[in-house]
Amino acid sequence: MRARDVRARDARRLHRELVDQLVGSGAITDPRVEEAFRAVPRQVFLPGVPAERAYADEAIVTRRDAQGRPISSSSQPTIMALMLGQLGVRPGHRVLEVGAGTGYHAALLARLALHDGRVTTVDLDREITAEAQRRLRDAGVRGVRVRTGDGWDGWPADAPFDRVIATVGVDDVAPAWAAQLAPGGRIVAPLWLRGGFQITVALEPRDDCLVATSVLGCGFMRLRGPHAGLAAYVDARGWTVSVDDGEAEAARALDAALAGGLREEPVARPPQHWELRLLLDEPDAVAAFPRGATCSLPALLTSDPAGFAVVDGATLRSAGAPEVAARLRAAAARAAPLTVDRLRLRVAPHADPAPAARWVLVRRDHVLLLDEPEAEHQ
Ligand SMILES: C[S@@+](CC[C@H](N)C(=O)[O-])C[C@H]1O[C@@H](n2cnc3c(N)ncnc32)[C@H](O)[C@@H]1O
Repeated sequence: MRARDVRARDARRLHRELVDQLVGSGAITDPRVEEAFRAVPRQVFLPGVPAERAYADEAIVTRRDAQGRPISSSSQPTIMALMLGQLGVRPGHRVLEVGAGTGYHAALLARLALHDGRVTTVDLDREITAEAQRRLRDAGVRGVRVRTGDGWDGWPADAPFDRVIATVGVDDVAPAWAAQLAPGGRIVAPLWLRGGFQITVALEPRDDCLVATSVLGCGFMRLRGPHAGLAAYVDARGWTVSVDDGEAEAARALDAALAGGLREEPVARPPQHWELRLLLDEPDAVAAFPRGATCSLPALLTSDPAGFAVVDGATLRSAGAPEVAARLRAAAARAAPLTVDRLRLRVAPHADPAPAARWVLVRRDHVLLLDEPEAEHQ
């Protein structure tokens, strides 16, 4: 057998094994989503990427900006599968995807919407859309319109849509997505809550709100363009923290707090899954990464006075204002787990007074109203 044939056979096997794994792990539960994953080879959308990587359950960065930060990728197959499950595309659906990237996800959507459905996929960058178009053509995918523009505005010329999906992280739901939704429609989007914590939500219109029918954890690169929001990572003295706004002020505060060095003390080890509750309870909560770490630690950062505190297992590290350490110690002592699947979310218009909810996150176009079921309150 020629080397090319062996490579093709290995690629088919690796493709099959990836889909088996997605089914086995429970990421794929809908047989139609399974069929789409089996039918569309991811490698076609990742030129130059060997089959071992293309069929690994990993996000693959395909483009970076001048500073080396990722700006486009093929998302992790598990996340794609979970979001396709949330989206529930049926034959005949008109679908809008924000974030065309490689075009792979659009091909999966087209497979689910079948011949009488159609998919509009939008990306900001003409080079990205041209490449996605080429890959879709090479894969023989029909029924996808690739558009160049800011997906925050949806695509009015192709509206209405039965399903809208963002494959890029947002801190609010674009009013255009809801406006372009057909009756009975659904939006799925990765929403940044606070301190970089993201959830993927399926939202359906109810009265004047969008109500989440499913909430799962996820991790996506941020939307680019004028609606990107202010979240950023700031670095100082060996630490990186993820903040929601006030980038310059946060960088100054982190630097000032750390200037005197870190103190260490034991702390009662908080339960697993308490980070989300800390982020929602404490407006000063951030996710902190010590140098070289890929997993974040729950932390507090204040600018006036400058203080930083972080819980790492059963150790509390702190710098600057001692009251920040005291606040984090108290939060850790009363910590109760909060997992994303317990969250109830409504996306509501601004109103005075704001509608009642356990946590209210104010965004430019909406307020995010978050609750957890009564029985879970401790
Ligand atoms: C994680 S990638 C999408 C992956 C893609 N669905 C796939 O299957 O390969 C996110 C994409 O969103 C795009 N993007 C970022 N901001 C955007 C915006 N405002 N409008 C449209 N696309 C945007 C990026 O250029 C990037 O290609």
